[in-house]
Amino acid sequence: MYIVSRQSNIFEILIENVSTPILLLNKQLTIKFANKEAASLLNLDGTSLQNCTFIDFLHKGSFHLASRICDEGWQGFSTNHSRINLKTRDGKIRKTIISCVPIKLNGSIEFLQLNIADTTEMENIDQLRRKYFKRLEQEIENKEQQGKEMLRASILAIAALAESIDSYTYAHLERIRYYSRLIAFSLKETDKYKEIITDEYIDLLFELSPLHDIGKVGISDLILQKKGKLSEEDMSEMREHANIGGNALKMAGQYSKRPQAFAIAEMIARFHHQRWDGTGYPDVEINGEQRPLKGEEIPLCARIVTLADVYDALTSERSYKKPYPYDIAKKMILQDSTKHFDPEAVQAFFRKEKEILEVRKMFPDKPNEKNITEFDKNEFKLAERDSMYTTVLLNEKKED
Ligand SMILES: [Fe+2]
Ligand SMILES: [Fe+2]
Repeated sequence: MYIVSRQSNIFEILIENVSTPILLLNKQLTIKFANKEAASLLNLDGTSLQNCTFIDFLHKGSFHLASRICDEGWQGFSTNHSRINLKTRDGKIRKTIISCVPIKLNGSIEFLQLNIADTTEMENIDQLRRKYFKRLEQEIENKEQQGKEMLRASILAIAALAESIDSYTYAHLERIRYYSRLIAFSLKETDKYKEIITDEYIDLLFELSPLHDIGKVGISDLILQKKGKLSEEDMSEMREHANIGGNALKMAGQYSKRPQAFAIAEMIARFHHQRWDGTGYPDVEINGEQRPLKGEEIPLCARIVTLADVYDALTSERSYKKPYPYDIAKKMILQDSTKHFDPEAVQAFFRKEKEILEVRKMFPDKPNEKNITEFDKNEFKLAERDSMYTTVLLNEKKED
């Protein structure tokens, strides 16, 4: 017990024998008594307490809170569990939890008793534990990210393998996924789709849209690489790529732990040549009738990828055509909206003009590709005259 004034009494003896650090303060917040636990906490010796105030041992960040609990104490209120940082005589910071109790002698408050719990070690351990968990969380996140990237890279590799047969570029696949995601984001902004299009749905669309033409691996190279127009027979074999891709992905889904992902991939591959007016392919059995899907019967993911794919084909160079600039491609698609495309998806897509042009810049077919400003007007007029528009791309040999 460190007694500044020599008024030892039973109360002081009690305090001395408590294993909790305790300070007694007078009205000037001078420390009148400190038991040996408190002295050890603050690194004090008996003499060094002379004329010390509680404020001398406060870390500056805790000053306001400490003043408040003392004020309340002098008004007769006890306070519990105030987190206060103390500064020891040798300058070390101790994290503590302090309870303040007013002590009455002869009917008036004479002292404030501060019961101190030193939580420094506990909080340090806690901090270490938090750091450790954070690092663990980060590592798990990194592993998941690596897994996702591996999956993404594998999907691109497989899709590129299918597309490489007709020498499409890797950039085409990247653009498809970005355009698809853009359409989904934009549709999500509308009342109709805000609940349906979830973040997970958008992620899956982004991951899986490059697989739309995976079924081309099942089509003969003779047809894929044939120069000139395809015969009706060739066309009908070519159309099989939708079901070949759809069936392959359906089968893969049966062995997967992510059946929902494969279900979306299957729908994209199988239905990306369906048309809004019901004149696309392949036929599907509906109420005993074999026919193509139409309108909203076509799964949303396929409607989105169809639009992304055709827009990219229109704005890219092919062996049989030059790229069309944005405005012309937009005009062509708008003209075919309701015939070929989901009109709402078309509107949603072209609300994002800035982003569409940005995607093209991010993934050009050739390095230093310039914005297409010139194009062969005669070629376009020819397409316009023959009402070919998107049909020029869809029915000509490659069937993008
Ligand atoms: Fe296709
Ligand atoms: Fe494609």
